[in-house]
Amino acid sequence: MKKILFLLALAMLLVLGACGGKKNEENTTSTKENSEAPAATEKKEVNLYTSRHYDVDNELYKKFESETGIKVNVIKGEADELIERIKREGTATPADLFLTADVGRLYRAKEDGLLQAVSSDTLSTQVPEKFRDNDNTWVGLTKRARVLVYNKDKVKPEELSTYEALTDEAWKGRVLVRSSESVYNQSLLASFIEINGEDEAKTWAQGLVDNMARNPEGGDRDQAKAIAAGIGDVAIMNTYYFGQMLNSQEPEEVKVAESLGVFFPNQETTGAHVNISGAGVVTGSKNAENALKLLEFLTGEEAQSEFASANYEFPVNPNVEPSELLKSWGEFKEQDIPLTVLGENNAKAIMIFNEVGWK
Ligand code: FE2
Repeated sequence: MKKILFLLALAMLLVLGACGGKKNEENTTSTKENSEAPAATEKKEVNLYTSRHYDVDNELYKKFESETGIKVNVIKGEADELIERIKREGTATPADLFLTADVGRLYRAKEDGLLQAVSSDTLSTQVPEKFRDNDNTWVGLTKRARVLVYNKDKVKPEELSTYEALTDEAWKGRVLVRSSESVYNQSLLASFIEINGEDEAKTWAQGLVDNMARNPEGGDRDQAKAIAAGIGDVAIMNTYYFGQMLNSQEPEEVKVAESLGVFFPNQETTGAHVNISGAGVVTGSKNAENALKLLEFLTGEEAQSEFASANYEFPVNPNVEPSELLKSWGEFKEQDIPLTVLGENNAKAIMIFNEVGWK
């Protein structure tokens, strides 16, 4: 018995010793200044897989390159295609950083084991906790609200209040919204599941289907256009699409947007639904340190004001002010939930959509 105890104690000492040693090792590799030479596999580059297609993103990568000397190689594609690509490439994937819109998609990438946890004090200060994954596998870069837009000739803003109220009899045949295949709607319903519970979320989805002006078709912008065409009177839409239309090169889009009012729902209750564009370091990344540096740069004050204002998104960094247009809409109350639940409730949301026949 004594011998066993002795062996156990010895084993524990060895384990503790090993942990301590490993910790030191980790410390020296993560602080570049102290290490004798950079890790053999880490090059002065970072491979970014992104589903965003904005010029401002490229300008920011250029700025990052000149500040750090780290080259950003950009691979663009649809979010789900990029996820499939990283899976297919497996351990050989050159991807270091995955960037996309909506927590629903970031969560899918995380669940598929494609993202790794990162720890960074800079990220923790620059991005509020609710806009970061609870396991630190992704972090928000820009923020958008899913709001209501309405026909200014037919609807008074006083008639609007909450997402829930859109299921009232008064809105029968007047509500426009895109398909439930859109991750934006899945995340919206996922937030209601979190806030109001599954039963109420289902009642809402059913009520909305009953009040739809037509079967869902097109994207968010098409719902706004349908209001202008007289098909319905109120639509659910992401804020940046409204901003894009107001500032569009196409005069027709500007005309549509100018005929509409924007309304932030649930201001007296649970807050407007918000979501993010975000990014995470890919599992097995060969340039993880550079990927983390790019994340820190993109959430920093300089990048945030450009990143957000060019696409009419809200900055996630609380020290950065939104653009003039967004400020003109006033401050608003957001849903008070960690965004990670939008991913966790995604499957339930899809199930409810199917049950109530939201196409
Ligand atoms: Fe979008």
